[in-house]
Amino acid sequence: MDRLDGSARLMIVSDLDQTMVDHCDPENSALLRFEALWESEYSQDSLLVFSTGRTPVSYKGLRKRKPLLTPDITIMSVGTVIAYGQEMTPDVGWEEFLNNKWDRDIVVQETAKFPQLKPQPERNQGPHKVSFFVDKQGAQEVINYLPQKLEQLGLYVKIIYSSGEALDVLPRGAGKGQALIYLLEKFSSSGKPPSNVLVCGDSGNDADLFSVPSAYGVMVSNAQEELLQWYEENGKDNLKLLHATERCASGIMQAIGHFKLGPSFSVRDLEFPYLKVDTIKPADVVVKFYVLYEKWRRGEVQKSPSVVQYLKSITNGTLIHPCGMERSLHASIDALSSCYGDKQGQKFRAWVDRLFTSPISTSNWLVRFDNWEMEGDVQYCCRTTLLLNTKPETPEGLELTHIHKTWLEGYSAGNDHTFIL
Ligand code: GLC
Ligand code: MG
Repeated sequence: MDRLDGSARLMIVSDLDQTMVDHCDPENSALLRFEALWESEYSQDSLLVFSTGRTPVSYKGLRKRKPLLTPDITIMSVGTVIAYGQEMTPDVGWEEFLNNKWDRDIVVQETAKFPQLKPQPERNQGPHKVSFFVDKQGAQEVINYLPQKLEQLGLYVKIIYSSGEALDVLPRGAGKGQALIYLLEKFSSSGKPPSNVLVCGDSGNDADLFSVPSAYGVMVSNAQEELLQWYEENGKDNLKLLHATERCASGIMQAIGHFKLGPSFSVRDLEFPYLKVDTIKPADVVVKFYVLYEKWRRGEVQKSPSVVQYLKSITNGTLIHPCGMERSLHASIDALSSCYGDKQGQKFRAWVDRLFTSPISTSNWLVRFDNWEMEGDVQYCCRTTLLLNTKPETPEGLELTHIHKTWLEGYSAGNDHTFIL
């Protein structure tokens, strides 16, 4: 919560499955395009919030398989769990608040009387979330009768139907929208309300997000029928709501541009050779550097000495590999140059996360970030620091020096094919 000194420039609150993460895109291209945009333009002064129907266990499972950024705040179990930072410190106050007029045992007992409700697996259940699978017609009956029945027993619940198959019973004060309102009130009371909020979703449990006053909203092009129906009935006149023409994370980028919330162009979409920049952008140059590194190893940029030349022109000094080996950055770039296309067809990805730049003097910056690499389903990560110096004659007006990497616990690799740069 306290990472930013002032108000967030932009707070993005996004659902994961089929919104941030496109399960039809095994290469994760749109996700990575969004992430490069976020790290180069926003991560410094903005907030990224994931809001998912997944429980903490199921969310961690997704993180292992997908190249996700580390959000500032994670809202899980359909707005019944709020956790902060990389450590995922839970908001105990929120969970206590949800105990009001809620008794999980009674909910389980009463829902068992509806034979059409098939309980979801244990890992999808939570202290304030009782979840089932059921078809549309079966769901309607539950929606019509269960809340009143529980009210007679002193319980106030909310029922949410998503993706034409999942039904969640939650405390009435819960849900993705309520959790966001709670967070926004917290930011306001500490004098730091975000300047703009953009909520992003695709299914029924996201409708709640679109009802938060003051937030912009994007329903991605691939939104589910029940969300589009909600939009027809409740949102059509709301100029702050967009039904994107692009899928998933590309739809989020489209909305940033549409509502003029800031830059919406990802450095992943830049063609090499890069034009010489006219303003120095410390975060941008670091993201570009690792995008080019990945494209080189995937064989997705031309195999030309000009790429090697560019990389050398913006680097100087040494690199300490996480295994402890130290060599000059130019020697490391020579090593990279002989690895052109070595990861072709191997679902290799490299991305930058939690990037933070701080000025040291008028002409240099200390940069910290998590440097991830992924091959197939295995992820590696190094906590990385480097120095950026102004150097007007380079194409970026900057030079990267003294790259120092250490393994992030639990994500080390035993080979030297990782993190050449
Ligand atoms: C996610 C959860 C599931 C929930 C659904 C709708 O898919 O895993 O438990 O029912 O979202 O909220
Ligand atoms: Mg979804």
